[in-house]
Amino acid sequence: MTEQVTKQAAQTVLVLDFGAQYGQLIARRVRDLHVYSELVPCDISAEEIRALAPAALILSGGPASVYADDAPSIDPKIFELGLPILGFCYGHQIMAVSLGGEVAHSEVGEYGPATLIREHDTALLNSTPLEQRVWMSHRDAVSRVPEGFTITAHTATCPVAAMEDTARKLYATQFHPEVKHTEHGEQILKNFLFEICKIEASWTMDNITEEKVQAIREQVGDNRVILALSGGVDSSVVAALGARAIGKQMTCVFINHGLLRKGEPEQVEEIFTQQFDVDFKHVHAEERYAALLDGVTDPEEKRRIIGTQFWNEFFAVAQELERNGKPVTYLAQGTIYPDIIESGARKTGGKASTIKSHHNLIPFPDGVHFELIEPLDHFFKDEVRELGLALGLPEHIVYRQPFPGPGLAIRIIGAVSPEKLQMLKEADAIVREELDRYNQRLFDKTGQRNSAHSCWQYFAILPDIKSVGVMGDERTYARPIILRAVESSDAMTADWAKLPYEVLAQISSRIVAEVPGVNRVAYDITSKPPATIEWE
Ligand code: XMP
Repeated sequence: MTEQVTKQAAQTVLVLDFGAQYGQLIARRVRDLHVYSELVPCDISAEEIRALAPAALILSGGPASVYADDAPSIDPKIFELGLPILGFCYGHQIMAVSLGGEVAHSEVGEYGPATLIREHDTALLNSTPLEQRVWMSHRDAVSRVPEGFTITAHTATCPVAAMEDTARKLYATQFHPEVKHTEHGEQILKNFLFEICKIEASWTMDNITEEKVQAIREQVGDNRVILALSGGVDSSVVAALGARAIGKQMTCVFINHGLLRKGEPEQVEEIFTQQFDVDFKHVHAEERYAALLDGVTDPEEKRRIIGTQFWNEFFAVAQELERNGKPVTYLAQGTIYPDIIESGARKTGGKASTIKSHHNLIPFPDGVHFELIEPLDHFFKDEVRELGLALGLPEHIVYRQPFPGPGLAIRIIGAVSPEKLQMLKEADAIVREELDRYNQRLFDKTGQRNSAHSCWQYFAILPDIKSVGVMGDERTYARPIILRAVESSDAMTADWAKLPYEVLAQISSRIVAEVPGVNRVAYDITSKPPATIEWE
C-alpha cells in the first residue's frame, strides 16, 4: 500500500479499519508498544496484504451489524494467508461469520464495563486475572463459533466474549482491548504481539530517526529541497530531520509577516542557524504585509491576503535559488498521519489522491512543479513531538500551542496597525508567561503534560473599541484586552479554562500596568460551540 509499509513489512501490524471510532487508537496502542502499525481500508484484498507482507493483522470494530445490507465485508481469503489475526468487536463477529460461525442479534446490548470470566487457558489472556474488567460496546454477538474455534471467555450477557483457533493463529474478542477502560488491554495486546506473533519491538525513536534520515537521503539524492518553516511543531521537526539527513541541501524559508508573537522570529532564527545545519532564509516581509493589510477589516479578506502573499514570498525564494544555479526539485511538508487519514486517503485505498489534493491546496504558479516529500506522513502528533525531542528541538517548539497561520492579524479585530500589533504582542507575551507558569505548576503536580485542567491554547485579543478608566488621578480612554484560554484536545470543541482567580488577577494587573494604551482586561467565558476559539 505504501512505501513505508513495504520497507518495514516484517514487523508491521496492519489494522483493517471497519469504520471504528477506535481505529486510529488501535494503531496508536500498537505503536506505543514499539511495533509499527498502520490503518488500511477493510476492503483490502488478500493479494494486496500478501504483497505488503505484514507480521500480523488486527480487525477493528465498526458501527455496522454484520448482517446489514451495507455492512463492510472482508476478503475471506485473508484468513488463509497464515497470518496471525486478532479481531475486536465487529472484527470478532466478521471473523466468526466468514469462517462458518453465527452472529445473533441480541435484545440486550452491552455498553460500558463488563466482567470478563476466563473459561479456558489462552495465551491471549496470559498474565491477566481470571476475572477482569473489560469495555464492551455491542448489540450483536457471536452465537456459534466456527469449526476449530474454542471459547476462551464470557461475560454475564455475552457467551462468546473471546474465542480462538490456535492452529490457525486466529484470535478475537467481543470487547475492546485498545481502550483504557479495559483494565488489562495493554497486556492482552502485548500477549498477541510478542507471545503469539513473536514480533520484535523495534519501532523506537532511535531506529525511526535513522530510518527516516536514510529514506530522505535516498529520495532526494543530490537534489535541493525547500521547506516553508513556520516555527510550528510539524515544520520544525521536518527541518530538524532534513538537517540531519541532507544539511544545507535543504533551504528552510521562514517568512516573517510581522504577525508572529513576541520573540518568535528571533527564536526560530536562532534555532535554525545555531543549532541545525540547514540553509536558513529569513524573509523580512513585515512591511509588505503591513501595506497589504492597511485598512482591511474583513477577517476572510485578511486571511486571503496573508495566504496569497505567503506563497508569493515563498515562490520568490524558489525562483531566486533557481537563478543562483540551485534549482529546487522537492517541496518538504509537515503533513502528519491524521491529515492523511482525514483527507480520505484510506477511502481511495492509497496515497496518490492525497498528494494531489495537497498540491491543489497550494496555488503553484504556472510552470512551477515540485515533488513532495512528507517525512511525517505516518506519524501521530505525539510521535512527531517525541521525534522532535529526539532530534534535539527545544521543548518550547515541541510543545508549542497551536497558532493560526494568519497570526495576530486575526486577533486584532478591525484594521491592523503597527501600534495595535505592538500592544497585542506585549499583552500576549504576558498571557503566555503567566499561563505557561500555571501549566507548569499543574505539570509538576501531576507529572503529565496534558493534565485535565491545563490550558490548551491561550492568548490575547485586541478588540476595536475603547473604554473609560482611571489611572492615578487621570481619566483614561484606552483599549481593553480580551483574554482567551481554553481546554481542548483537538480544537473541534473547547471549554473556557476555569482559571484560579489569583492567576486571572495577576494577568489583568500586569497587562494594565505594563502595556501602554490598555486600561481594562476581560475574560472570554464562552465554550466552542457556540463560539469559536479565535475571534475572527
Ligand atoms: P476556531 O477559531 O475555528 O479555531 O475555533 C480552531 C483552531 O484552529 C486554529 N485556527 C487557524 N489555524 N489558520 C490556521 O492555521 C487559520 O486561519 C486558523 N483559524 C483558526 C485556532 O488557533 C484553533 O487552534
